[in-house]
Parts: sequence; structure tokens; C-alpha cells
Amino acid sequence: MLTEFAPAKLNLALHLRRRRDDGYHDLETIFAFADFGDTLTASPADGLSLQVTGGYAAAAGQGMDNLVGRAARALADAAGVAAGAALVLDKQIPVAAGMGGGSADAAATLRLLNRLWGLDWPLARLAALAARLGADVPACVESCTCFGTGRGDELMPWPVSVAGTPVLLVNPRVAVPTGPVFAGWDRIDRGGIAAGAKLATLRNDMTDAAITIAPVIGDVLAALARTDAIMVRMSGSGATCFALYDDEAALAAASAAIADHGWWVQPTHLR
Ligand code: C5P
Repeated sequence: MLTEFAPAKLNLALHLRRRRDDGYHDLETIFAFADFGDTLTASPADGLSLQVTGGYAAAAGQGMDNLVGRAARALADAAGVAAGAALVLDKQIPVAAGMGGGSADAAATLRLLNRLWGLDWPLARLAALAARLGADVPACVESCTCFGTGRGDELMPWPVSVAGTPVLLVNPRVAVPTGPVFAGWDRIDRGGIAAGAKLATLRNDMTDAAITIAPVIGDVLAALARTDAIMVRMSGSGATCFALYDDEAALAAASAAIADHGWWVQPTHLR
């Protein structure tokens, strides 16, 4: 049996530039990944199957109809593989939360089956296939801090290391659909992400649209801003927000201070 970790995705910044004719948006984003996430295991089998366990199994849904199933079939088709796999997904990342859970799972599926089936494709080749599964999936294949342009699927290295930074993830337990948040953007281009820009000066341009759909996001951001954070921001299209800290003591204090809201709270570190 093989195991693959599917780290939760965060957008350290997400600047919207333009609505495209295909309904997607051109954006500039800094992807980062957490030491927290889902875990996928695979055993050899004749056909493809998926069982979902863990705290968010019900929300993610059972069976091969989700992004894990689509990723497995896409790789089998592209590589001409007849073998199957019995996949088990331990779903810990909240669903429809701005942490790329489905994308991370799809990316982990590609990495895991690449090993199980002995394909030995380089990550870049898996990432090219991943773009067909969703805009965030190529970044999740790499699962390292990177700069994304286009739909978020054109990737470049991000030169600043954030590995080990204490981060608090907070989700108010409200599922937020991605499409309507993008559609709620006011379409004002506030500028891209300059090379070498300080994170604190950057933005998530979907914050206002997400707060309109789920006002509690404003409460989460305000609560995190009252902690001793270096930076507070919403991830993706929300509703998860995160705060970065200088040290473990500040992370622990913030985690304790946020605990009594009844929100989902996860202290972790950036990778
Ligand atoms: O690619 P993915 O399926 O993850 O995207 C989900 C939705 O998010 C799209 O249908 C689109 O409404 C929105 N989206 C967008 N621009 C992007 C990425 C996603 O408008 N760059």
C-alpha cells in the first residue's frame, strides 16, 4: 500500500486582473501549502475504486465521481494504463473552503498513481495533465510555494521561502461556492503582484465578494486581526482565513483566543 499527503492550499495573495471570455479570470497569486491536509492511500486492484473516510467524508461524497476519480481516469487514459487501484481518501480539509481540498486530492491522486503504476512521469508532466482537472491542480501537484498567473495554472518559482512559518487556519463552517465569489468581483483591476513585494502589502481581491455571500468571513478576519499576527488574509474564494505568526507562542495564543467561536480552527505550519 502506498500513501500520499495532499497538503491544504493557501493563497498568500490573490490579485484579480481580468474576466476572460471563457468565464475564468486572469489572476496573479502566490500559492503556499500547509503541513495540514488529506491523506490518500492506494493498493493494487483490478478496477478503480474510492472510499472516503475522515471528518469531511460526508461533505466530499463517496465514489469515483469526484475529482479523485477524474484524476485517476485521466492518468490511466493518458498513460495507457489498464491496471486499477483501490483508493482510500482520509478527508480532513473542509470542503468548498478556499483551501483547494478537491484540487489537492486530485493532485495527490496523480502523484500516487504515478508511483503505484510505475509510470515515473516527472512532476511537470503530471502538472500539465492536471490543468485539465482544475485551475489549482497544477500548483497542488507541485505543492510548493509558487507564483501563479493565467487561470492560476501557469506557474513560476516564488523566490521567498516561507517554510516553517506558523499559520492558523480558521473556517467559520460555512461552505462558499467558488463561481459566485469570482462572479461577485467588482472587476476593478487593482494591479498585479510586483516581484519582491512584501506579503503584508498584497491582497485577496475576492474578499469583499466573499463577505457579501458569507458575512461571517468579516468576523473571522476581524478576530484574527486582534491576535499577534504578521499577516491576516482570506484564502482563495473563502471562507477559510489564515494568519501568519512569528513564533509558536504567538500561534498557540491565537489558537486559544479564537477557540470559543465554534469555528473550525487548525494551527499548523507552511511547507
Ligand atoms: O478550475 P476550477 O474548476 O477549480 O474553477 C472553479 C470555478 O472557479 C470556475 O468554474 C470559475 O467560475 C472560477 N474560476 C475563475 N477563474 C479562475 C479560476 C477559477 O473564474 N482563474
